[in-house]
Amino acid sequence: MINLNLPFFSKKGKIKIPFQKELEGFEKIKELMAPPGANFALDYFQIGDIYGRTLLVLEYPSYLIGAWLSKVIILDEPFNLSLFFHPVDTGATLKKLEKQLARIEAQIRETEEKGKVRSPELEVAYKNVEELRDMLVQAEERMLRVSLYITLFANDKKELDLKTKKILKTFESSLISSKQVMFQQKEGFISTLPLCLDEINASYHLNSSTASSFFPFISTDIVDEKGIFMGVNLIDGGVVILDRFKYENPHLLILARSGSGKSYTSKLEIMRSLMMNMEVIVLDPENEYQSICDVYGGSFIPLSLRADYNLNPFDLPSLIENENTYDIFKEHISNLIILIEILIGERLSSEELALIDRALNQTYAAFNILPKKGWEKAEIFPTLNDFEKVLRSTVGGEKIADRLYPYIEGSFSGFLNKQTNVELENRLVVFGLKDLPEVLRSLGMFLALSFIMNKIKRQIKRRLLIIDEAWWIMKQPFGAEFLLNVIKRGRKYQLAVTNITQDVEDFLNSEYGKPIITNSAIIFLMKQSTATADLLKQIFYLSEGEKNFLVQAERGNGILIAGNKRVPLYVLASYAEDQIIKTRTDQLIALEKAKEIGF
Ligand SMILES: Nc1ncnc2c1ncn2[C@@H]1O[C@H](COP(=O)(O)OP(=O)(O)O)[C@@H](O)[C@H]1O
Ligand SMILES: [Mg+2]
Repeated sequence: MINLNLPFFSKKGKIKIPFQKELEGFEKIKELMAPPGANFALDYFQIGDIYGRTLLVLEYPSYLIGAWLSKVIILDEPFNLSLFFHPVDTGATLKKLEKQLARIEAQIRETEEKGKVRSPELEVAYKNVEELRDMLVQAEERMLRVSLYITLFANDKKELDLKTKKILKTFESSLISSKQVMFQQKEGFISTLPLCLDEINASYHLNSSTASSFFPFISTDIVDEKGIFMGVNLIDGGVVILDRFKYENPHLLILARSGSGKSYTSKLEIMRSLMMNMEVIVLDPENEYQSICDVYGGSFIPLSLRADYNLNPFDLPSLIENENTYDIFKEHISNLIILIEILIGERLSSEELALIDRALNQTYAAFNILPKKGWEKAEIFPTLNDFEKVLRSTVGGEKIADRLYPYIEGSFSGFLNKQTNVELENRLVVFGLKDLPEVLRSLGMFLALSFIMNKIKRQIKRRLLIIDEAWWIMKQPFGAEFLLNVIKRGRKYQLAVTNITQDVEDFLNSEYGKPIITNSAIIFLMKQSTATADLLKQIFYLSEGEKNFLVQAERGNGILIAGNKRVPLYVLASYAEDQIIKTRTDQLIALEKAKEIGF
């Protein structure tokens, strides 16, 4: 039952219901709810002040385009619509089909014998029936009797006739023939109430795959109790409220072409999450989250070669009680090895790995940091410079040390060879990566990400981590692997990761794309090219209608999939939110205005 709307329950105007004191309990409620009267005419009815009419579908074309029903559902009219699917016994259908085949065959033979021109129509019919029979035999298809009724409501007869025409036309545009129910308006009305009663029983036989085209969207409601307002459900205009922590995991993946509103969506989510006392961390390759930072008093940390802010990858996480220091140290060393591979730009051989492992241990030992002993007392940690010195003094280490040169004294120095001077102690922290040369951007993302992971493990609370344009880090296989790891472990640390990606095709084809999808319980698909829409259709089992919706989607529109529910969503901002998002840091005037209207 879709879009149930019972306008006659809201009594306005003339009708006055006499209040009967003597009635008790349920009887009294019934009297209060019931309309003053109902009249069922030949092809319409009247209940109180409201006029109504039930229509039914008589016949469908042999080919139905997916999601055709959404054309009717999105009409901005109050109506009740009900669909009944009665399964039909396959055995009985098969018998009928056999008979039909025999009949068509006889007709074909007869035409041949009479020497007439062969009839292509008969041959097509034969082929179709035969195909259907085979699919039924192989249980690939089932037969269904399908009925569709729709009851319209209006304030007067004229309006009712107009609305009837509109709906009949809409059906006609999909080659579906429908008409008003004659003599059975009462049965029609009952059949469209949420009672699951098919009182008219005017059905049409369809096979299951054709019948599946009736569903415009699989589910039409995401309203989580403690969630964040995401926007408007495009089917019924209702609100969409999402609580990411309610699902199998809290991760969100946003996939769409550039300019379709991905960053806008995540900015809105950030502002609304801050209101719910969540901490938010952002990796921002375009420095476009700065204005939000300014408004909400967050820390904006621009990473660049000028190195006002430094992240030292050699920092060890601070320890909490009863932790196995050895394991943490080992994990840290393996992350450092990934970093070194990124810096060098290739995978290391097993000899090189062993050599680097040893050199790293020695570097820490020189600072009196030993895996088994812990590092509570350590005041400073080694840097890349210290490591490079140890490497140079190791047999065979010179070659690797040379390749680290750009980061030690060459053109990229000053970026990751200094002590950390950044804190995460703010409810909103944005790492801006725009000032980094492009070749260093994925590295910057990786650094920030490992820094964040080290910190959040120490104090577990609900946090949101936005990785905008995640393909910067995905471009590097090492980075993609690390990102997947963050996502997989995130839930344990109550970290909700949002991955935003515009290179949808690359993403889907990457070795890490699919596992990231599987590990993201929430997906938001926005505007797509035809080619990517086809790919997404397969991955997310989109209907033809949903696919077309994505290809034509306007800015801010998309399909939100959360667990096994999905809705077409329009991401809606308030005026004040919109101003904050669109304002550059220096455009404070608009902000003042926003404050005036009280955001
Ligand atoms: N839901 C929306 N409502 C209003 N404006 C929007 C909406 N979504 C995006 N925009 C505007 O459209 C432009 C592109 O959006 P953006 O989020 O930067 O796209 P993307 O990150 O997908 O490339 C921006 O100017 C943004 O302010
Ligand atoms: Mg963007």
